[in-house]
Amino acid sequence: MAQILQPTDENLRLLRKFLRIQGLVAVPTETVYGLAANALDAEACSKIFEAKGRPSNDPLICHVGSYEDIHKICHSNELAEKLAKRFWPGPLSFVLPKKDIVPDQVTSGLPSVAVRCPSHPAFRQLIQGCDFPLAAPSANPFAYISPTTPDHVEAGLGQKIEYILDGGPCQHGVESTILDLRDPSAPRILRYGSLPAEDIETEIGFAIEKPSPDLKPHQAALAPGALPKHYSPRTPLHLKNIAISTEELTNAPDSTAYLLLTKPKGKFGPNIHWLSENGELSQIASNLYGQLRALDDASYSKIIAEEAPELNLGLAINDRLRRAASQ
Ligand code: TXA
Ligand code: MG
Repeated sequence: MAQILQPTDENLRLLRKFLRIQGLVAVPTETVYGLAANALDAEACSKIFEAKGRPSNDPLICHVGSYEDIHKICHSNELAEKLAKRFWPGPLSFVLPKKDIVPDQVTSGLPSVAVRCPSHPAFRQLIQGCDFPLAAPSANPFAYISPTTPDHVEAGLGQKIEYILDGGPCQHGVESTILDLRDPSAPRILRYGSLPAEDIETEIGFAIEKPSPDLKPHQAALAPGALPKHYSPRTPLHLKNIAISTEELTNAPDSTAYLLLTKPKGKFGPNIHWLSENGELSQIASNLYGQLRALDDASYSKIIAEEAPELNLGLAINDRLRRAASQ
């Protein structure tokens, strides 16, 4: 069992000391909980891959306390600076050319590195006292649903790590948006996430390239981590891209869980669940992983979920649902 620590000054000091001696600490961010290590220490970062059972060809995101801190680890450009001014701290990661100080373990040997500056207050307090960036993937066993509470981290990795910093439930509930900025004249979204692509386009004034919806397995190597199967419950998950009818819900067998976007009107059985009261995408995103975990733990034989509208945060929600449903 890991110790779940509140972000008191004393605990933060202890966690920084532990990180300095190559320890792993689960940390809250505004997106999901991360499993953090000193990003400049190859051995510490190798322990992340071991604890998660993560393949070594899936690179990690480096987390910093401010935009100025990225100059130590990568070569920035004007577009990155502009976007950081507008959206950091927040759920947006940049991919930029790396500097030699970043170990190959972090980037899986790539000449680029992903960087982001989270906004969660407890994370900010922790990192502001560290003199190194923190490499942190989501704090879940590889390919399972990402954690949005300390209890989720404990359930998946409690046997493998010593400390979880308690920052309560994560605000956004899906991971950061990853933007390839290596060529600032052609920015490219590598992963939809909590910051909608539309917000980035509004800021920069032109359309950005989006991830291909049907990336084949051999192409996945070009965009590491974009595996077709990910974020997956053990229970088979099926998706519907049209609203599920009242008739279907009324006749639903008890062994099948339904996960709707919005609370249905009328009375239904205990196997009918929903992600929001009124269809607000931010509420759907923040409840998504917690609900999938709860349904996975409830021994249903099947989960049927509704897809979100294909815009804004709906793109990130559907990306996660489709990977979770992938066989
Ligand atoms: O919100 C988030 O981004 C969370 C929190 C903890 O910050 N982190 C997260 O990390 O989602 P992870 O490891 O689950 O996903 C990171 C993904 C990798 O799978 C990979 O696709 C991409 O980031 N990535 C990292 N470095 C990259 C690089 N140099 N080039 C392309 N993609 C990269
Ligand atoms: Mg992950």
